[in-house]
Amino acid sequence: MVRTKIIRVNSDNPEEEKIVVAANVIRKGGLVAFPTETVYGLGANGLDGEAVRKIFVAKKRPMDNPLILHVSGVDMIEEIAEVNETARKLINEFFPGPLTLVMRKKDVVPPEVTAGLDTVAVRMPSHPVAIKLIEMSELPIAAPSANLAGKPSPTKAEHVIEDLYERVDVIIDGGATDIGVESTVVDTTVYPVEVLRPGGLEVERIQEVVDIRIFSKSVDTPKSPGMKYRHYAPDARLFVLTGKREEIVEKITQLAEDFSKKGFRVGIAVTDPTPYKKMDAVVKEMGTSAEEVARNLFDVLRELDRHADIIIAEGIEERGIGLAVMNRLKKASDSRIFRV
Ligand code: TXA
Ligand code: MG
Repeated sequence: MVRTKIIRVNSDNPEEEKIVVAANVIRKGGLVAFPTETVYGLGANGLDGEAVRKIFVAKKRPMDNPLILHVSGVDMIEEIAEVNETARKLINEFFPGPLTLVMRKKDVVPPEVTAGLDTVAVRMPSHPVAIKLIEMSELPIAAPSANLAGKPSPTKAEHVIEDLYERVDVIIDGGATDIGVESTVVDTTVYPVEVLRPGGLEVERIQEVVDIRIFSKSVDTPKSPGMKYRHYAPDARLFVLTGKREEIVEKITQLAEDFSKKGFRVGIAVTDPTPYKKMDAVVKEMGTSAEEVARNLFDVLRELDRHADIIIAEGIEERGIGLAVMNRLKKASDSRIFRV
């Protein structure tokens, strides 16, 4: 058990005297959870294998799932990775932001970060708190999402506290994250580049800059080691329904009633809660645009998980950030996705 210090900061303009406290913890080999524009990360000195090991222990994460190194500038990337022409293009276009690039690693990167692979995943976050923390640490920060392995990623400090209180040294509370799903992971060691995980940066935008190969929408190859684990999962059983709006409403209502009659507590996650007002279920609104759904998804799943045995979620169209949303729903539901 660790004593956890919670530090509240101004997320737009983080106070240096507060961030320096967290940066010193990183420099001394400790663990700091911090907000990024995608989800909260759990950070440690990315050049110190011992410090990185603590991340796996705190999260109960399998050691064979590699981590992303977070950097604050291009110089820092050159120190840890071989940047080829393709990677350079993507860096120029999309860094800082919700994109992670897999590149050949340099020797300074310890095997704990890469799970022994000869590649390393690198991301430059755009969140002011993340940037300031990396700058003040003067180190690349290794950080997975700051949740217990298998749980939905944290988009609020409260989620991190729920999972990691007394397991990490510092939790920086910078409010809710903006994007809400993790970064898009792209392997730049092959050409066309390969999208290993859809995420906050739309693949349509990456496609405008380089040729890409994307795993098929229904069959994703588990090339990103993390893809093979059950992920983003609530404890409740999750069902996802996609299709025409009116038919979805009818189907969700019917399913919810069936489960409820059998004595299950039912939670529903929908874009518009109006048609479900009178139901015997906890109803959560995810928002109407794909961006809103992405932002609210993990919070809604965590919230419903507290009140329900069965969660029924409305699926959205698999384009733009909707691709990432459906990828997470697919994993969280063990592919219980039904087209009505
Ligand atoms: O938005 C994000 O990416 C968040 C924030 C904190 O930056 N981080 C995050 O980390 O989602 P994590 O550890 O939950 O997911 C990292 C993903 C995993 O699927 C992992 O397998 C993959 O990146 N990955 C890491 N290193 C890799 C490598 N060398 N080759 C292939 N995939 C790699
Ligand atoms: Mg994760």
